Amino acid sequence: MVNFKNRDVISITDFSPEEILDLCGLGKVMYDLEKSGRRYNSEYKFTVKRKLASFFCESSTRTRLGTNAAMYELNGVFDGFSGAEGTSLTKNETIRDTIMMANALHYDAIIMRHSKDGALQWAADVSQTPVINGGDGINEHPTQALLDMLTLYMYNNNKFDGLTIGFGGDLSHGRTIRSLSLALSHFDDITIRWAAEDFLGMPKDLSDLLQSRSVKVERLETVREVMSGVKFYYMTRPQTERMKDVSQEQVIEMMKKYRVDLSQVDGFDVRLMHPLPVNSKIAEIDYRVYFSPVQSFFKQAEFGLLLRKALLYEILKHDGYIQFSGKLDPKLEFGNNKLKREIKTRIKEGMFIDNILYGTCLDHLPSASAQGIADGWNLKDRGYFFVPANIPKTNKSFLKTDLIDPTERELKSAAIKAPDPTVNYIKDGKVISKFVYLLCKNDNCITRAVNEDVPPKFYNDDGTIRCRYCRRPYTLKNQKVSETELKSFVQSLPKSVNPL
Ligand code: NCD
Repeated sequence: MVNFKNRDVISITDFSPEEILDLCGLGKVMYDLEKSGRRYNSEYKFTVKRKLASFFCESSTRTRLGTNAAMYELNGVFDGFSGAEGTSLTKNETIRDTIMMANALHYDAIIMRHSKDGALQWAADVSQTPVINGGDGINEHPTQALLDMLTLYMYNNNKFDGLTIGFGGDLSHGRTIRSLSLALSHFDDITIRWAAEDFLGMPKDLSDLLQSRSVKVERLETVREVMSGVKFYYMTRPQTERMKDVSQEQVIEMMKKYRVDLSQVDGFDVRLMHPLPVNSKIAEIDYRVYFSPVQSFFKQAEFGLLLRKALLYEILKHDGYIQFSGKLDPKLEFGNNKLKREIKTRIKEGMFIDNILYGTCLDHLPSASAQGIADGWNLKDRGYFFVPANIPKTNKSFLKTDLIDPTERELKSAAIKAPDPTVNYIKDGKVISKFVYLLCKNDNCITRAVNEDVPPKFYNDDGTIRCRYCRRPYTLKNQKVSETELKSFVQSLPKSVNPL
């Protein structure tokens, strides 16, 4: 068995194929013990006291209860909350502080669910104890992926290689399909077939990533076409809570062709999986299918409990505990997102820095955004000198101000309004530092939640710049950056998410 001692569980891509197989193997052991009447009395239980903090900032039934039940069956305890109400999150407490509290209160591990992509990577960066991702925004749900893998393992002769699986429902706004397909991408000869309305279809960044990991991805017209070639069909709920400007009625309409009813499964020897919950109004799975032999999702939920037992046991089974230091790692303060630009010594007469000796100039901003940034920085009320100006015939604007050293929050709020701004710090009338401030462009990324103070960090994934937190690829849109400047920035980045 691979050593999982004190491991964080953030993204399924952090697991090797051996680790996934090991956990499934132990999940099967848990299943066999359960079936032989040894739910509580097996050798798989904590011999030291263990307590889990269970922080669900978004609603959850299975992941929360499944994890808590697993702790209980392993002889551990848990406490926490479900929904922000009743917690200090409603008082604008940050994720960082919430995690530090769990550490201070001697919890041995934390499971958390959060609406922002990458929030769990941040929680893990902050925490001294292991952190488990119980779902972060539309990003990942690694424990769901592991339990889905256990289900496939149990029903596919303990292997994954050569598997063809069908996906349906909402491939765009959910996190379970992303995590499961990435889990499968660790294995050989995997084919994913899917059929869904365009709006609910597989995001391009995901299909590109899967194909780069040698997964065959095939889009088909109908659910029956997908069903005809697969042993497993993984249906998902349209994530209406994450859809802007789309009503439930419209989603019902989109789902008409793609719901799974008896006519869709008729004649197929397929196992129907679903992470649950099923939306009973949209009824992406017709209730009559519940009574047919294809229904496998309640068993999948039980495998969920068993997999969680296996995982928590492996993370926490050792003796001893992590002592609280009370300190934050200094690496949590700053990002690595400042792309250094060359300072040209020769500045043309009448250029933007005239009439400020000390201050800041933001350049290459989209037209008219300078005023919005000045407003956001509250420059007028704070008594700073500033000039927001549009550059004629260029659709560009710039902002110069005698505010020295804007804070990270200020730079972030500028980059939200005007992506990839060039920032110049000016001293004695000269530019002394010049950089492009990169901020992840995924709207739902935790780094964009300004008051969470998550430092924007990127890594170099084989030449692709990716956000450390939501792991989405980053495309720079600042034409002034030269190839050499970009290249040396990319080379300065770490080659993977780890280490911090
Ligand atoms: C899923 C989730 O929260 O991502 N539920 C779960 O954890 N089993 C799927 C969903 O909400 O549709």
